[in-house]
Amino acid sequence: MLLKSPLSLGKMVLANLVCVFLLIEVIVSGFRIGVDGLRMDYYLMTCPFAEQIVQNTVNRALQSDPTLAAALVRMHFHDCFIEGCDGSILIDSTKDNTAEKDSPGNLSLKGYEIIDDAKEQIENDCPGVVSCADIVAMAARDAIFWTGGPVYDIPKGRKDGRRSKIEDTINLPFPTFNATELIRAFGQRGFTAQEMVALSGAHTLGVARCASFKSRLSGVDSTLDSDFAKTLSKTCSAGDSAEQPFDATRNTFDNFYFNTLVRKSGLLFSDQTLYTNPKTRAAVNGYAFNQAMFFFDFQQAMVKMGMLNVKEGDNGEVRENCRIIN
Ligand code: HEM
Repeated sequence: MLLKSPLSLGKMVLANLVCVFLLIEVIVSGFRIGVDGLRMDYYLMTCPFAEQIVQNTVNRALQSDPTLAAALVRMHFHDCFIEGCDGSILIDSTKDNTAEKDSPGNLSLKGYEIIDDAKEQIENDCPGVVSCADIVAMAARDAIFWTGGPVYDIPKGRKDGRRSKIEDTINLPFPTFNATELIRAFGQRGFTAQEMVALSGAHTLGVARCASFKSRLSGVDSTLDSDFAKTLSKTCSAGDSAEQPFDATRNTFDNFYFNTLVRKSGLLFSDQTLYTNPKTRAAVNGYAFNQAMFFFDFQQAMVKMGMLNVKEGDNGEVRENCRIIN
């Protein structure tokens, strides 16, 4: 029999105590995460089928149009970065107010009907309970899983905001940003440079239109592979709205995006700069080499992004219709 020394016995007792405290914390707080009031099981008693309804709705929509996966992920990002994750991106403009969704940076967003569809079914089941902001966050999470990305749980309980103004969208990062500007923009919202690189990995899905990258084609750009530059010029010959995928597998969530950066074939200037700049290059190399590490960091950063300036209690509402403030 192995005899434990008093020191290791002490460590064991301490470890057991920590486990007991953690367990009590989980039981008392009900898996509360970070922001007060957000919980994994937020709708357990009030709308137990909400998650399932969102997942089924997303799956059905993506089966008929897989390109909508990228759209749902981008929608969540654009929601969270402006006014926090509060569904402000979903609000329609009125005669007195031009909303976020009508700003130039948001005009190519799509997939709003998927959110409407899920919301309508949820309202039939449990009216006035589940916020549009939570539906967007869940839909993005489900889209990532559907395309082969990591599976993860997100805390819920966000309230919907009552403000959506075109002028606020000036705070979205521009595709012309260099790494220093990107680090600053994400740093202001509490993200590290590494988390910013991981989040940029969402560009493993989807496309950009020529309008978003054509400025790279006019001058000499030593960070742009010359064959890839020819491909981009060909794409742009079809006009500003011609689409170019970020990587070779636009509907699959993988680490190919990071491999394109290593090959100087990043689509946007803001993509390629992550490899050009020594401050972020190591992270790009790491994710290009190790997909599991990318998946792990990405899902952690997405959970964090999903908690940006969330509204709780009277700071927000549960919108009846995601497009209209109550
Ligand atoms: C790092 C700063 C970022 C910049 C400058 C940026 C910029 C852009 C631009 C310009 C486009 C193409 C829009 C168009 O031409 O129609 C795009 C697409 C996209 N972005 Fe980002 N983005 C950034 C970060 C993110 C993040 C953090 C996410 C999500 C977590 C994200 C998700 C997406 C997705 C999925 C698409 C493809 C959309 C589609 O195909 O419908 N982006 N982004």
